[in-house]
Amino acid sequence: MSTSQRPVRLLVFSASLRRESLNTRLASLAERVITRLGGTVDHAAMADFACAPYDAEMLEREGLPPAPEAFRQRIEANDGFVIAAPEYNASMPGLLKNSIDWTSRARPQPFNEKHALLLSASPSMVGGNRGLWALRVPLEHLGTRVYPDMFSLAQAHRAFDADGGITDATLAQRFEGTLRGFLDLVEASINYPCAKKAWFEFLGERPDPLTERAE
Ligand code: FNR
Repeated sequence: MSTSQRPVRLLVFSASLRRESLNTRLASLAERVITRLGGTVDHAAMADFACAPYDAEMLEREGLPPAPEAFRQRIEANDGFVIAAPEYNASMPGLLKNSIDWTSRARPQPFNEKHALLLSASPSMVGGNRGLWALRVPLEHLGTRVYPDMFSLAQAHRAFDADGGITDATLAQRFEGTLRGFLDLVEASINYPCAKKAWFEFLGERPDPLTERAE
């Protein structure tokens, strides 16, 4: 990373509420690596963004509740975000989807044009990777630039060393390489913007006060 340019700022959180969460361990390791590579970490926890089930009438009555408003502000304050998300039944945790749904109702829609890197950890052999493909769908729909590479830590209950690193040297190298590539891309997009993208709820939709959904 060039010293003449400001560091890349990334919001990092685990989408698990569990105290002994494997995803929280992976998110902590990501924070360490990002800091070592010159990025700035804004650490958060899923509990900071956890909301009651989405309720359109509550939104109309009271506006955006504090948790999605906090999520909105933290997304806004950073260049991108890194989520370490558990896989529940081959998809993402409902709590995470619910937070994304609430937060997506803010205007301007905060996920648009932000960068995201998706990580997962699971005791299973696939490491929760199917959940990340599910998570990619709403984020890409909202205009987030989801990094093509994802990192899923299989057999994660046995994968960490006492220091919180990944024991297997090849996997540890791949993890660091994924983060390095992501940071390079975000840095390039901040300093050398060359592509702009508009977000639409539905392709071909025109801004209309009736729907108020296209931007
Ligand atoms: C799971 N788990 C799981 N794991 C997996 O690899 N694929 C799956 O489809 C599922 N499905 C699933 C559903 C539900 C409801 C639960 C509670 C769990 C196991 C899960 O990945 C494991 O418990 C992780 O350790 C959870 O992540 P944290 O809390 O350790 O970060």
